[in-house]
Amino acid sequence: MNLPNHVTIIEVGPRDGLQNEKNFVPTDVKINFIQALKRSGIQEMELTSFVSPKWVPQMSDAGDIVQATLGGGRDIVLSPNRKGIDRVYETNCKAVAIFVGVSDQFNKKNINKTTAEALEELAPIITELKERQYFVRACISTAFYCPYQGKVSLVDTINLCKSFANLGVDELSVADTIGMANPREVYDLFSFLKKELPNILITAHFHDTRKMALANVFASLQAGIDRFDTSVGGLGGCPFAPGATGNVATEDVVNMLEKMGISTGVDLSKLMEALDIVEPHISRPIQTGYHTLHKLEQTTQH
Ligand code: HMG
Ligand code: MG
Repeated sequence: MNLPNHVTIIEVGPRDGLQNEKNFVPTDVKINFIQALKRSGIQEMELTSFVSPKWVPQMSDAGDIVQATLGGGRDIVLSPNRKGIDRVYETNCKAVAIFVGVSDQFNKKNINKTTAEALEELAPIITELKERQYFVRACISTAFYCPYQGKVSLVDTINLCKSFANLGVDELSVADTIGMANPREVYDLFSFLKKELPNILITAHFHDTRKMALANVFASLQAGIDRFDTSVGGLGGCPFAPGATGNVATEDVVNMLEKMGISTGVDLSKLMEALDIVEPHISRPIQTGYHTLHKLEQTTQH
């Protein structure tokens, strides 16, 4: 088996998780949640996103979140356009994630632009961010399947990844937005990207709609991937990608990896403390494997 000794977890719950919640999670709860996640050993995290508050009201408190939680690791904020970047410049955050889907149809729904239009707007922004020494992450949505278009061409995904690599981004986070990819597809794409783009961080981002996300994590490890976007409690989903459920759960990935002897630096009991903070504000039950077991153990101990 091809396995790394260490895996980096990029926690995306405060962003991917809470952007998709029916109700606005109060700002102070988000802040406590993020601080508790940091205490659990998470070193990289998407804190929030600077998007249009009309499109995604759940993220309208992005400035307050960043001000209250920045520090202690790589804190990343999402931004889709010039207006968002100008808002990021008003903060001390030094890591930005831009996001584009491979599929035009998804992009039109998510950012109101085609893939080519988004690239054209983002190219000078990426150059500027790199000149200002920002860490730049490019999130590549619908890398395998699109909720509107169906199967996405592997060639299109690879070409978009290469375009961002050529623009000088530090990291590509390659996403199975609606949780449709299978481990073979995942292995093939990530093996290819690792070989073609050896000088860039490559991260896998799985949603767990069809319960293949842990298998996809394992297939990615075999392809040489050692960075995963995960979300505590399996929270997550994109408001403009119908049918997608949450991200693969941080606790399930950490539990699997640690059992396999792969370190993550994340303390599972502290991670569950973080989840306890946000759970009362989440509209659906949390049913991840590790969380269910953890609650059962707590009940039998009392
Ligand atoms: P638009 O309507 O075409 O843009 O939206 P616009 O320039 O015409 O602006 C519309 C209004 O929004 C204006 O306000 C702007 O000022 C304002 P008005 O003048 O009407 O009062 N506005 C902004 N305000 C604050 N911050 C901004 C901003 N931009 C415009 N940055 C836009 C285009 C891109 C803004 C919109 O489509 C948008 O915000 N989209 C974001 C959608 C989103 O957040 N999706 C979820 C994140 S991606 C994801 O989850 C996938 C990922 O997890 C990977 C995966 O799983 O695939 C990353
Ligand atoms: Mg996502």
